[in-house]
Amino acid sequence: MKETGYFITFEGADGCGKTTQSKLVQEYLENKGYEVVWTREPGSVGLGQRIRELLLHYDGDVAPRCEAFLFLADRAQHIEHIIKPAVKEGKIVLCDRHTDSTIAYQGYGRGEDIEELKYLNNLATSGMKPDLTIVFDVSTEIAQLRIGAEKDRMESAGIEFHKKVRNGYLEIAKQEPERVKVVNADNGIEEVFEDTKIIINELLNQ
Ligand code: TYD
Repeated sequence: MKETGYFITFEGADGCGKTTQSKLVQEYLENKGYEVVWTREPGSVGLGQRIRELLLHYDGDVAPRCEAFLFLADRAQHIEHIIKPAVKEGKIVLCDRHTDSTIAYQGYGRGEDIEELKYLNNLATSGMKPDLTIVFDVSTEIAQLRIGAEKDRMESAGIEFHKKVRNGYLEIAKQEPERVKVVNADNGIEEVFEDTKIIINELLNQ
């Protein structure tokens, strides 16, 4: 293992199953003896949890740019307080959503300028990038079934929005094939996990 730890992000449209997969990866790596930190955006701890509440449950109108800045504010806090220190200590950080969510949702989904969002992401993270990002690609129909009837503010944004998000992720993967790997997440949990493990081991065995 390299001197510092690893920073791995899990991405995909709502209902893609990435949270289940990231927890399975946590268990898998801990069993192998790695020190793992599982975390998520928006809202890991403290201030971030308050921002999460606003983002997911505020019931008034939210301007797209305000939404973007709230996710970015959470990210700036998260990277400094949780991610950077853990990676520096040699741990493997598994993060459920990160910068690519902003590009896929606020950029491709809501139509905010993607180059500007990339710049803002970079500002929020002080340039720290994931070593690996796994995008769980799920068909919008299967995702909607998995989400079910109880939806938060983002999940209620409609099928067209979620199709744009999905295509956004595929576009990101095309642009950065070294960092971003795509897993077909239409399959069952076990099958998806087999594909995920191969990608994780490729990184760790480098
Ligand atoms: P969450 O309940 O964490 O959903 P999931 O389990 O799918 O990750 O809700 C996070 C929501 O916020 C999700 O709909 C994606 C959205 N989001 C953005 O729109 N932009 C972002 O930068 C991030 C981090 C999340």
